[in-house]
Amino acid sequence: MAETHPIDRATTAHRPWILYGGLSVAVLGVVGWLVGIVVLPLAQQPSDVLPSWLAICRAFGIPVPQGAAPDQRKALAEASSLVAWTPPVIRELQDADHQAGAFVAINCEACHGPQGRTGSALAPKLAGLQAEVIWKELHDYRDGKRLFAPMNAIARALNEDSIRQVAAYFGTVGEPPPAKAGSGGDNAPRLVLYGDTHRGIAPCQACHDANNTDRRVMMAPVLEGQRADYLARQLGLFQTEWRHNDVFRPMREIAMRLTGDEIEQLAAWFGSRPPAGTPAPSPSNGTVAASLAGR
Ligand code: HEC
Ligand code: HEC
Repeated sequence: MAETHPIDRATTAHRPWILYGGLSVAVLGVVGWLVGIVVLPLAQQPSDVLPSWLAICRAFGIPVPQGAAPDQRKALAEASSLVAWTPPVIRELQDADHQAGAFVAINCEACHGPQGRTGSALAPKLAGLQAEVIWKELHDYRDGKRLFAPMNAIARALNEDSIRQVAAYFGTVGEPPPAKAGSGGDNAPRLVLYGDTHRGIAPCQACHDANNTDRRVMMAPVLEGQRADYLARQLGLFQTEWRHNDVFRPMREIAMRLTGDEIEQLAAWFGSRPPAGTPAPSPSNGTVAASLAGR
């Protein structure tokens, strides 16, 4: 009988570590494969964005059809507001029927005063506010993006036409009556004009400039002449993020950095200012659309 070849002798029976080594590599391979193809795709892919089996398919490199994952494009962060300032939206607001708006506004008198000029302790003056702001806030109340139960109910009772009309009406009704003279304390004018760079507070004036006649920053409401108690309350609501309908969060970030005293002083300062500038030029003059189109 021929002598066994030395290589044949190096079988698994004689060298068990070859078997163990081979098995370990196989097990590691399978575990690695499972982690890469199943565990990681599932762990990194919240189930409400992409179904599990599609996440696994994608890890294999199989393209996921858009229609098969309708939730894929759903934003994970909640939107601050659903309002979109498209040119047609602005045009329709400019063309809205003010007369009809005056009728809708009768429903607002009880709280916002005749012609939106006074306001109860809680309710803001609407006279002098930009039509665009009123339109946005009414939509935010209607969409539940800004929470105040009576206003949520009122906004839901209005249809698109009435919202446009009442916003256009208040936007042109004129300025609120001259505010009572008063001082806002030492800090207010500095914060309004210069902000506080060390604390990351932008100057209020940068956005809330009532003299900015082309109103490029039209989303920022006119604050001059507004009720001080209303302004202070809103700053407090932004601070706690209860109010969170400011797109890109400028007001939440600023209010969080303000002290209670500063909030009181700023509210008093704006509340005691005469309604400066031209807060509400006629919506028919086309400046808003023109300035947006020119961007
Ligand atoms: C029951 C009282 C009440 C009635 C009626 C009412 N409002 Fe209001 N409204 C309020 C209060 C209070 C606020 C402030 C709520 C808050 O803190 O968000 C407010 C806020 C608003 C704002 C936000 C203003 C801003 O500066 O951001 C708008 C716009 C508005 N109301 C429009 C209307 C219109 C238009 C009507 C009539 C169709 C109306 N409201 C009827 C009480 C009322
Ligand atoms: C980067 C721009 C920006 C700056 C700076 C800014 N604001 Fe605002 N502010 C806004 C916008 C935009 C809104 C409207 C939010 C919304 O859509 O409801 C707003 C809303 C407000 C409101 C609510 C008004 C209302 O009618 O409900 C108050 C009060 C306010 N700001 C105060 C201030 C004060 C005080 C400062 C300075 C310390 C300041 N803001 C600085 C952009 C700004």
